Amino acid sequence: MNGPADGVLGGVRRPRPPDSALIMAALPVPVVLLDADNRFRFVNQAAEQFLGVSASYLLQHALLDLVPADNPLLLLIEQVRAHDLTIADHDLTLESPRLHKPGITVFASPLPEEPGAILLVLQDASAARALDRQLAFRGAARSVTGMATILAHEVKNPLSGIRGAAQLLESSVTGPDLELTELIRDEADRIRAMVDRMEMFGEKPLARTAVNIHRVLSHVRRLAESGFAAGVRFQEVYDPSLPPVSGNHDQLIQACLNLVKNAAEAVAGQSHPEIQIQTGFQHGVRIATPGSPHRLDLPLQVTVRDNGPGIPDDILPHLFEPFVTTKAAGSGLGLALVAKIVGDHGGLIEVDSRPGRTEVRLHLPVAADEDAPGGADG
Ligand SMILES: Nc1ncnc2c1ncn2[C@@H]1O[C@H](COP(=O)(O)OP(=O)(O)OP(=O)(O)O)[C@@H](O)[C@H]1O
Ligand SMILES: [Mg+2]
Repeated sequence: MNGPADGVLGGVRRPRPPDSALIMAALPVPVVLLDADNRFRFVNQAAEQFLGVSASYLLQHALLDLVPADNPLLLLIEQVRAHDLTIADHDLTLESPRLHKPGITVFASPLPEEPGAILLVLQDASAARALDRQLAFRGAARSVTGMATILAHEVKNPLSGIRGAAQLLESSVTGPDLELTELIRDEADRIRAMVDRMEMFGEKPLARTAVNIHRVLSHVRRLAESGFAAGVRFQEVYDPSLPPVSGNHDQLIQACLNLVKNAAEAVAGQSHPEIQIQTGFQHGVRIATPGSPHRLDLPLQVTVRDNGPGIPDDILPHLFEPFVTTKAAGSGLGLALVAKIVGDHGGLIEVDSRPGRTEVRLHLPVAADEDAPGGADG
């Protein structure tokens, strides 16, 4: 791909294009070249990271050292060789003792100059899908917003009437009837508590300050440890240099508390119940949102990880919708509220779950200069 000397083309001086090998190495997409015997001939840095193996190892090994012979990827490669076509396949799983990569998209192309050689471009579609889903959930959370406001308004008034009437009756009835009036009162209180929770979905402008996320997380950890997560081992892995989040202190507590509560409920019954809370800063990653020319700059990451059994596959596509629950006493509002709060912050959520390791990652914006310093934070 080297052009004429000094990049002179048709008399016009152009900057010389950089070496294609350098471009390939820096490409943030895993690229692998296999020879006719499926031995690794080239891997770029992204592929090393993706496969979790160094290039020096890979270049002395074959694909069969990484995935079993019955993996559909090998069939795909044979098809490409047989038909001399580029073929893309979605939702492949690269599974072996050293590798677990579900939901991979693979583009496989022949290399005309090298008979039998195959170029593979790999893509971790599960990460992209998680983001897609989260973006769709924003809509789901919005539709609840209107409903919540109406519910709160329409239900609360008659409810207090019912409760008051039951209380009045209590003074004039006895025996089993008294039990009934108490039942009415208790149930009215339960509905009221639920409506209060629904009301949090209501559309209110978010009062933002510069929030120290570590204070939020430590507070949540303390609440959890002294209550619903007693007996769970907590691990906090905090990046002390993290700048403040642009956000609402109380709502961030609410969101993180819901995540930690889910994690605690997932690890209950585990022989070594463990929850890890981690923060980090991701440099230079911007996330494109469908239908918008803007890219979100969300460098702050908060991860809540547990060693529970994982999120059931069948609810994954609806995870952030309200009333989706697998728990007998669950309302299914926890993650819907997290999605609403994170959406209001302009952030995103990613979910990665398999048995023994469930991870929910929040991507949040850094506080801007115009954000007031947080009252509750230093
Ligand atoms: N860390 C996790 N591990 C396994 N499953 C999870 C985890 N977090 C959420 N889930 C699944 O997602 C469902 C929805 O969670 P969500 O927090 O929205 O509702 P809930 O926990 O069931 O009820 P609520 O939060 O209202 O008490 C849960 O019922 C559970 O099946
Ligand atoms: Mg929950």
